[in-house]
Amino acid sequence: MSVTESLHLALAEAFGGPLADALVEQHDNWLNRHGNWPAWCQMRDTLPAVTQRWRLQDGCLTAGEDVDQPDLLTEQLKSFIPWRKGPVCLGGVAIDTEWRSDFKWTRLARHINLRDEQVLDVGAGNAYFGWCMLAAGARRVFGCDPTQLFIAQHEVIRHFAGLAANHLIAARLEDLPPALSGFDRVFSMGVLYHRRDPLEHLNALKARLRPGGGLVLETLILDGPDDQVLVPPDRYANMRNVHALPTRQRLESWLQASGWTATEWIDITATTSAEQRRTEWMPFHSLSEALSADDPTLTREGLPAPLRAIVLARKPT
Ligand SMILES: C[S@@+](CC[C@H](N)C(=O)[O-])C[C@H]1O[C@@H](n2cnc3c(N)ncnc32)[C@H](O)[C@@H]1O
Repeated sequence: MSVTESLHLALAEAFGGPLADALVEQHDNWLNRHGNWPAWCQMRDTLPAVTQRWRLQDGCLTAGEDVDQPDLLTEQLKSFIPWRKGPVCLGGVAIDTEWRSDFKWTRLARHINLRDEQVLDVGAGNAYFGWCMLAAGARRVFGCDPTQLFIAQHEVIRHFAGLAANHLIAARLEDLPPALSGFDRVFSMGVLYHRRDPLEHLNALKARLRPGGGLVLETLILDGPDDQVLVPPDRYANMRNVHALPTRQRLESWLQASGWTATEWIDITATTSAEQRRTEWMPFHSLSEALSADDPTLTREGLPAPLRAIVLARKPT
């Protein structure tokens, strides 16, 4: 069974055949809009045959048995650069991703119980966290992400890991059909600050949950006691699409206005270059180029350096 067939089957089981048919067609159309998609598929199809299996080993997604020609596999996997989320080890080749995403998962995991939950991970990237969620007991994970390269990476990972219940849909949250809802848990990590209208995003997340379902929200915040929001005038930490950094108080009031209850702040951490850095698998600008050379508490634009919060909340029953 191909990755897309497995996605179709899971969608049909969870939401019925007509939704699965329409969404998989939309998924395929979106992927084919990217000029590199055929080349990525061709490269994926030349990957060596392996016994499929996966496990998380010290936070590293380790999938497939070791291959006979690791140098060739390294070259093949480098066609999918930049690798941002991981770490991942495929067929014995260690991919040192830009982000040590396992650090974030470690800050989060002990605060949530995903046992038997059906989860939606919005802005899932290559779906690294979906493997963590399955390992933590989730029944099934659907991620969504519009970036075609990350879907290609997910398909590469699944070539080694096999067809576990960690599925990735090529779509933005706002393009998913309304009937894709009733989830036990919705994750939005690293997405809110990219949205022009944060309240609209929080409302859209709530619409995907069953009554009483849980939210995991991870986002950039602004340090300070006041009710404030920083709207970067131009770039923020080299990123063009960061629209709003709220203080804790402002984020609380957004969550309240959007109708969330039982808000629980579980972590606030400044991003360090141990967690986000340039590697041979992501050889472009990373955190150190995003910070001021003179003062690492500031970004290169002179704004406060990245500080990330994780907040849990519930949709009322
Ligand atoms: C900063 S990354 C975060 C990835 C991962 N969730 C994490 O926490 O490391 C943001 C991701 O959101 C995706 N994204 C951007 N706009 C989106 C939207 N409207 N709906 C869903 N995903 C979106 C991007 O493609 C990107 O992979």
